[in-house]
Amino acid sequence: MSGNPGASASLSPKAFEVIAGLAKSEAGIILTPAKTTMVQSRLRGRIRAVGYADFDDYAKFVSSESGLAERREMISALTTNVSHFFREPHHFDMLRDQALPILRERARNGGRVRIWSAGCSSGQEPYSIAMTLMEHAPEMAQKDVLILASDIDPQILAKAKAGIYSEQQIGGIPEGYLKKYMRKSGSGLDVQYEVDPALKKLVRFRELNLLRDWPMSGGFDVVFCRNVVIYFDAPTQASLWPRFHKMLGKDAWFFLGHSERISDCAQPLFKSIGLTAYRPAA
Ligand SMILES: C[S@@+](CC[C@H](N)C(=O)[O-])C[C@H]1O[C@@H](n2cnc3c(N)ncnc32)[C@H](O)[C@@H]1O
Repeated sequence: MSGNPGASASLSPKAFEVIAGLAKSEAGIILTPAKTTMVQSRLRGRIRAVGYADFDDYAKFVSSESGLAERREMISALTTNVSHFFREPHHFDMLRDQALPILRERARNGGRVRIWSAGCSSGQEPYSIAMTLMEHAPEMAQKDVLILASDIDPQILAKAKAGIYSEQQIGGIPEGYLKKYMRKSGSGLDVQYEVDPALKKLVRFRELNLLRDWPMSGGFDVVFCRNVVIYFDAPTQASLWPRFHKMLGKDAWFFLGHSERISDCAQPLFKSIGLTAYRPAA
């Protein structure tokens, strides 16, 4: 072991191949050789943490049986977790204008409402959904209404659960919402905003790898899976559309990220209702 393990290590094509292979098989994430520098910088901290001097040894370890725990850490380091409050706001407009009037009525009559944020990252997406509900149908919070927020990355889920954001991160939150739904503390550079407990109560965070089994029984009314499948290849994406279709209730809404589209082969299952917005066709 060197004094400062991994500090100057560079990623060989062979080690890259091993790491990229694991990213694909474990999480569906496609890493092309053009991403070598990114992978190198994202994994430098991991090399340091496990005490290897170079990426070749790290790649050997992480692909071995004893490297199972490190594989999860590696995937966590390789995921892209960028998110914003009210990102791609047209989906929240659709939620408010199309879905909520129906779901609110159902909840009022004792029915169940379930929303899923699949690939929720640090929580801005599920909390934006919760804010939309609280703002436009506040009584839903007392009914059988839940937002499932899932991600493959346990570290980002811990941040999401804490629900604490910096001044830079709260950018997309409408001014009026900020006062109602976020608790400000600290001052100057230390200022931070914590999601109100009433919103947190609506959200259940769970670790879930979209490539593996989904333990839910379905019946979701709205599913947000935005800016997640963009990291997967076409066959992986194609395998997910029927699975999402199965999870959706008959009259549900399904939202994707701005550069994502349902593959042609799955088109018969869904009808497009606007930009990256779908409903089950049958
Ligand atoms: C760019 S963020 C998108 C966050 C949010 N949906 C949004 O649009 O702002 C992508 C998230 O997908 C998660 N992810 C990547 N591969 C995944 C997989 N196989 N299963 C579940 N989540 C995955 C990452 O951990 C990351 O938090």
